[in-house]
Amino acid sequence: MEIIITKDYHAICQAAARMILEAWRKKRALVLGLPTGKTPLGLYDQLVGLHERGEMDFSDVITFNLDEYLGLDENHPQSFARYMNEHLFRHVNIKKENTHVLSGTPADVEEHCRAYERKIRSVGGIDVQILGIGQDGHIAYDVPSSSLVSRTRLLTLTREVVKTNAPYYEKESDVPRFCLTMGVGTILEAKTVILMASGRDKAAITAKAIEGPVTASVPASALQLHQHVKFVIDEDAASKLKNIDYYRWTAENKPRALEWLSRKPV
Ligand code: PGA
Repeated sequence: MEIIITKDYHAICQAAARMILEAWRKKRALVLGLPTGKTPLGLYDQLVGLHERGEMDFSDVITFNLDEYLGLDENHPQSFARYMNEHLFRHVNIKKENTHVLSGTPADVEEHCRAYERKIRSVGGIDVQILGIGQDGHIAYDVPSSSLVSRTRLLTLTREVVKTNAPYYEKESDVPRFCLTMGVGTILEAKTVILMASGRDKAAITAKAIEGPVTASVPASALQLHQHVKFVIDEDAASKLKNIDYYRWTAENKPRALEWLSRKPV
């Protein structure tokens, strides 16, 4: 695991954008897994900036979003499809057919979830999966008790999520109770995973995810089982890590480590 601690929110967004840019320079048809929420907003700004400055071309980039509320169509103001259009897709030259967001109104839920998994496999899997982390340790919408080998499926949202979302809907009966979400097992198959966390309110759960036991009670802890996972977190989100001195020491020594790795026998 690589624990990258930066000064503030802006710096984690810059760092994550740089990682995506580097991956894209190696593979133009980069397959990105993308989250919604507050945390990735600054990252999407950075990606739009890269596009506007001509540093990144999205014409071959393929994306898969993590989740969608069941019952909302793609134009609903609270849908994640709409969020993605507003914050990223309409600002860059990505092809609509290369963007994949689970449908909130599928004809057949189970078949739609299976087809999403097949689609991911058919493009060779996700190269870089970006994640946020929820206060309860969820990644995608895999809330505590989600199996660590779960796949894309229907999930019942927690009471807390339903309560938090309620003010955005006219009637209580309109508030989504379910979503479709990639599973923890789906996420673990991405080649690289980057989890972004910012702020003091994420410090306790970030420490559990990185240093606590691997448990379905903290779905993000499953990332400890991933070979190429990077936690890109700011000072505040890092403030409860016990082993923080070692993570800083590792970062300090990274240039030396890379030098050793690049040495070729003469
Ligand atoms: P946030 O959500 O980025 O809005 O804090 C994170 C998440 O729920 O994954």
